[in-house]
Amino acid sequence: MDYLSKFEELKSKELSLDLTRGKPSSDQLDLSNGLMSFSENDFLYDGVDIRNYGEIKGLDSCRELGAEILGCSKEYVWAGGNSSLSLMSQFMSFLFVEGIGEGPWNSKKRVSVLCPVPGYDRHFNLCEKFGINMIPVSLTGTGPDLEEVKRLIDSDESIRGMWCVPKYSNPTGEIYSHQTIDGLLEIFSKTKNKTLIFWDNAYAVHDLYDDSSFDDIFAMAKTKGCEDVVVQFGSSSKITFAGSGIAFIAMSLNNQNKFLPFYSSLMIGPDKLNQARHVRFFNQVDLKDHMKRHAAIIKPKFDLVINKLESQKFGKWTRPKGGYFLLFEADKGLAKKIINLASELGLKLTPAGATHPYGLDEEDKFIRIAPTACSLDELDTAMDVFLCCIGLAYEQAQ
Ligand SMILES: Cc1ncc(COP(=O)(O)O)c(C=O)c1O
Repeated sequence: MDYLSKFEELKSKELSLDLTRGKPSSDQLDLSNGLMSFSENDFLYDGVDIRNYGEIKGLDSCRELGAEILGCSKEYVWAGGNSSLSLMSQFMSFLFVEGIGEGPWNSKKRVSVLCPVPGYDRHFNLCEKFGINMIPVSLTGTGPDLEEVKRLIDSDESIRGMWCVPKYSNPTGEIYSHQTIDGLLEIFSKTKNKTLIFWDNAYAVHDLYDDSSFDDIFAMAKTKGCEDVVVQFGSSSKITFAGSGIAFIAMSLNNQNKFLPFYSSLMIGPDKLNQARHVRFFNQVDLKDHMKRHAAIIKPKFDLVINKLESQKFGKWTRPKGGYFLLFEADKGLAKKIINLASELGLKLTPAGATHPYGLDEEDKFIRIAPTACSLDELDTAMDVFLCCIGLAYEQAQ
């Protein structure tokens, strides 16, 4: 059947499908229902009454859990509320008001941040809200292009930071190689703490395969004497409950001492009942086994998307070994067209351009696919719709 006839046939089905959301499916959330079984009647935890204010850095044992997730040592890690994005915004606020290194960002005429692309739209939104100038940097498949990063940092005084999603990057799914991390640290170590690496390790343990060891950036930074340039983030959002997990921020003791007074003025302490619940849960359930159970649900969805894409001849796509996203790269000028056609058939896709700062994918090529939230059956239909729209867009472009 030709693409147009298939398109008309699918249209008559009045479908309602959604591949926009990087959310766990409800069967993934069910894996952590054990969290609800703790009757919190033992309120003394780590010697602390967890009902009360205090423990601004989080419960000790929860910081340990954070260290296990982020793959670094516990002294660096604080356990906060339910969202790492909130911690990122709190840390940004701190940089504007007080700052590390060269004084507060609000005393500068212009503050710029390097944004590897394709990247995560919420990082870009956050920068936009803060009035930060965003400079795109290309990703290579093993992390950012180091020559580009070096050239920009050497030539632009206003650059104060860089976003990195180092493992299963959103949305390319790529993993930063050891050489790339080493090279980044080498470049940033020369900036005298003026320029920071925002290491958003959101997918640190979200592996689909076993061979998944990853570098501890603090250990690497320590050997270069530049621990202070790294601020790491992560959370249990896609490990336990996306809306009721624990978020983590990790940094050098120097930076902790600077950030602590500011952070303490924002709140009196995190939700320690939830932190204790998480620690108790992971005392009973091995984190690695838990993530394998997630993988058992997610991997068939990634496989389905890749198999479907491989059954046709247009565009390119990534084959991530973990995380939550795949990326489809169409020929120049076709992403919006494909997304609009899909919308006509009732399939929602992440808006074109969302993968780039200011929503500007100059070449109009990239489409992020988030396969986890829907069921396998829905995903199967959604991919048929997607392939039909790809085919039709390419045909009409000829
Ligand atoms: C790279 C990245 N960072 C952060 C988040 C959000 O994390 P949290 O739920 O901890 O705010 C996401 C969610 O999709 C993400 O992809």
